[in-house]
Amino acid sequence: SIASADAHENFLQCLLQNSDNSTTSISKVIYTQNNSSYSSILDFTIQNRRFLTAATPKPQVIVKPLQVSHIQSVIFCSQLHGMQVRVRSGGHDYEGLSYISHVPYVVIDLINLRSISIDVEKTTAWIQAGATIGELYHKIADTSGTLGFPAGVCPSVGVGGHFSGGGYGILLRKYGLAADHVVDAHLIDVKGRLLDRKSMGEDLFWAIRGGGGASFGVIVAWKVELVTVPSTVTVCSSLRSLKQNLTQLVHRWQFVADKFDEDLITGVFLSSVNASTGGNRTVIASFESVFLGGVDGAIPLMQKSFPELGLVEKECTETSWVRAVLHHARFPIEAPLDVLLNRSPVTKRFYKAKSDYVREPMPEIAFEGIFELFNEKEGGNAEIMLVPYGGKMSEIPESSIPFPHRAGNIYKMSPVVYWYEEGSETAERHINWIRKLHSFLTPFVSKNPRASYINYRDIDIGANKIRGYTSYKQASIWGRKYFRNNFDRLVVKTMVDPHNFFRNEQSIPSLSSWR
Ligand code: FDA
Repeated sequence: SIASADAHENFLQCLLQNSDNSTTSISKVIYTQNNSSYSSILDFTIQNRRFLTAATPKPQVIVKPLQVSHIQSVIFCSQLHGMQVRVRSGGHDYEGLSYISHVPYVVIDLINLRSISIDVEKTTAWIQAGATIGELYHKIADTSGTLGFPAGVCPSVGVGGHFSGGGYGILLRKYGLAADHVVDAHLIDVKGRLLDRKSMGEDLFWAIRGGGGASFGVIVAWKVELVTVPSTVTVCSSLRSLKQNLTQLVHRWQFVADKFDEDLITGVFLSSVNASTGGNRTVIASFESVFLGGVDGAIPLMQKSFPELGLVEKECTETSWVRAVLHHARFPIEAPLDVLLNRSPVTKRFYKAKSDYVREPMPEIAFEGIFELFNEKEGGNAEIMLVPYGGKMSEIPESSIPFPHRAGNIYKMSPVVYWYEEGSETAERHINWIRKLHSFLTPFVSKNPRASYINYRDIDIGANKIRGYTSYKQASIWGRKYFRNNFDRLVVKTMVDPHNFFRNEQSIPSLSSWR
């Protein structure tokens, strides 16, 4: 409409006028739909092909800030001209909430704000939000062979979203989450103020470490405490088939994996593969272990902790911490470390994922039921990842940060279904398949609430209204699943953003907003 075209034009004018005193003019980093590089900029960090279609809503404007004042201008002008803001760091949001909205909006894409500085003596690092965890790992490995960081595995994940929702990887049982190691942050609030831990106060600082950054402002940088890792780390991959008692092994794994020594983590990847004969499909389990030490320590510990697996030395390789991450990200262990710097996947897939927490071991029939679903056509390219908790995760109190899934959880279970064919009908069939799996799992997983991991965003579990007021009670439907009782404390949102400017389908509501 003419009205919205005017609003859009006024918004752009406002941006230009408001950044007069910027070192670099904001005009250099504004991209509208008329700009020839608009699509390539928008698409670059979109991970999920579901959101790479013509039907996907697109922002009126993308801004790629080079400095804090550019972000401040966007926040100021968006409020003035009724634009919604979406903030994107690595673009890995499973539901695309960092770059998709259903009202007129602008994307702040932090890809240019990605510097990382490490203080080796103090073992801390300042990391700008647009950096990826791969860039962080690369820099750490460049600096020291005995420092590491307990964040995720996929190198292109952005620290902006990842640390603000938790962030876990191979060091989870030893050190907990990325968010557990954040000691300071720079955040721009709705008034455009640049705050640090001291000036934002402990309630807001608590909220952004696991409560999802998008509800509270724009995180510009994190300060984290790095952790020590041994110079030698052992990774072991043990593939087991149904003929090798896979079902019994996975069943047994549930009784031991959260009780292992915290230097040892053994996750399980269940997937459906083509059988070697008969054109049928079958199931395979890959037990992926990481031990913080040499193979001569790993084997006896595995034999003691999980003798049924029958781990043998030839399934293991000694390497460094950073290469253990590479291995888990499915790169060859000897790949050049520069692969960590690649921000965009070469092949993009369609997918839909979910997450659950398991507090009591599931019976064997539950796994048999999962494997039957794997054999359905739509489940052909599905995977389920089982990530053991315990260790440090059980020691950190549930209310330490908003991420609440601590003691009492044996493991996190996350299914994902991939597909390669375009079209909304195909998508629907695969999404229905994973929903069917989700309902099949109901009796076996956490209840009241049925818990989920916010970084594995799943809009099926509940969403705010796109327009108008969403009450605290309505939001608590999805909010308690992600945050359990910590949801109550996240209403600090009301103090920092009373008019609910920073919002999306799963943002914390503001209690005092218009109703
Ligand atoms: P993205 O930019 O999409 O942002 C995610 C959310 O955070 C959005 O709501 C966004 O608005 C908000 N946000 C982003 N930057 C912000 C900022 N600077 N200030 C305020 N809000 C901001 N997780 C895990 O724990 N361990 C793992 O190993 C993996 N592996 C993995 C692999 C792959 C291929 C994918 C697609 C995802 C994962 N994840 C994961 C999940 C990942 O942690 C999750 O998607 C993060 O939110 C991604 O952060 P990005 O910055 O990349 O996302």
